[in-house]
Amino acid sequence: MQNVVGIDAGGTLTKLVYIDDNQELQFKIFPSNNLLLVKEWIEENPQIEEIGLTGGRTEQLLNVLKTMKSIQYIVEFEATIKGVRYLLEQEGLNVEKSIITNIGTGTSIHFMDGNEHIRVGGTGVGGGTLTGLSSIMTGVSEFNEIIEKSLLGSRESIDLFVKDIFQGMEAPIEGHLTASNFGKVSILKDMDHSVNDLLSTIQALVGEVITTLSIQYAEQKNTEHIIFIGSTLAENNHLKNVIGNYTKLKKRNPIFLNNCGFSGAIGALLNKMSER
Ligand SMILES: Nc1ncnc2c1ncn2[C@@H]1O[C@H](COP(=O)(O)OP(=O)(O)OP(=O)(O)O)[C@@H](O)[C@H]1O
Ligand SMILES: [Mg+2]
Repeated sequence: MQNVVGIDAGGTLTKLVYIDDNQELQFKIFPSNNLLLVKEWIEENPQIEEIGLTGGRTEQLLNVLKTMKSIQYIVEFEATIKGVRYLLEQEGLNVEKSIITNIGTGTSIHFMDGNEHIRVGGTGVGGGTLTGLSSIMTGVSEFNEIIEKSLLGSRESIDLFVKDIFQGMEAPIEGHLTASNFGKVSILKDMDHSVNDLLSTIQALVGEVITTLSIQYAEQKNTEHIIFIGSTLAENNHLKNVIGNYTKLKKRNPIFLNNCGFSGAIGALLNKMSER
């Protein structure tokens, strides 16, 4: 491997990327509540001399690493955009102007236009909300289990759809849209809801809040594309479907990138390498 790594120490996960002997990017994930594991991994790879670093837990990681290696910090938002540009190029996508929605522990929303970029907003509803609500409501706290089970569930007996309200008459908006997330629970009282159904509905709640907000920014900025990134989307087809379908319905183009959780770490790596 090369002697440089990029690290994004996030609220929940610490992402690390490096380039192997075949010149290919390699990806690793550590839980941010045990940063000692990052230190151990770095010590196991003594050829590492340089570290590009970003993310809200940068200071905490530096306190654990206590390293003499050459470190270059880059603010998270700059790193993310650098990483997104790299991933777009890798996938042969030519997107100049876009909303970028980063679904991490919380959700941060950016606007990129050529070389310009600004943070436009965000919401506390994100991946932490997905795992937190899932854990409290169903006892399922493991991310992979949440995404597997949610795929098997149905929202029909929990969410209230527009068509459920406007029965027998023409609805003002499309009938399959959600009128109220979890809104059927208090109307159809005393129903039992399966774990799979609850997980499916929690995913939709999180996805719809994030999409609604992202679409508003896309409209405000007159932007066709919305790039959705963050580890919350990793292998998470249910969430991607909710977000993708709703975005398309609103006549915007949803873009999901491979390695969607690693844009910050890639940006930190590129930034460190460009310093040479
Ligand atoms: N292996 C995993 N363990 C825990 N959560 C995971 C895992 N894989 C994906 N996730 C999901 O990804 C979310 C974290 O995403 P991400 O790594 O992009 O955020 P972060 O960088 O840690 O947070 P922030 O950017 O808000 O500081 C978790 O809240 C969870 O929903
Ligand atoms: Mg992050």
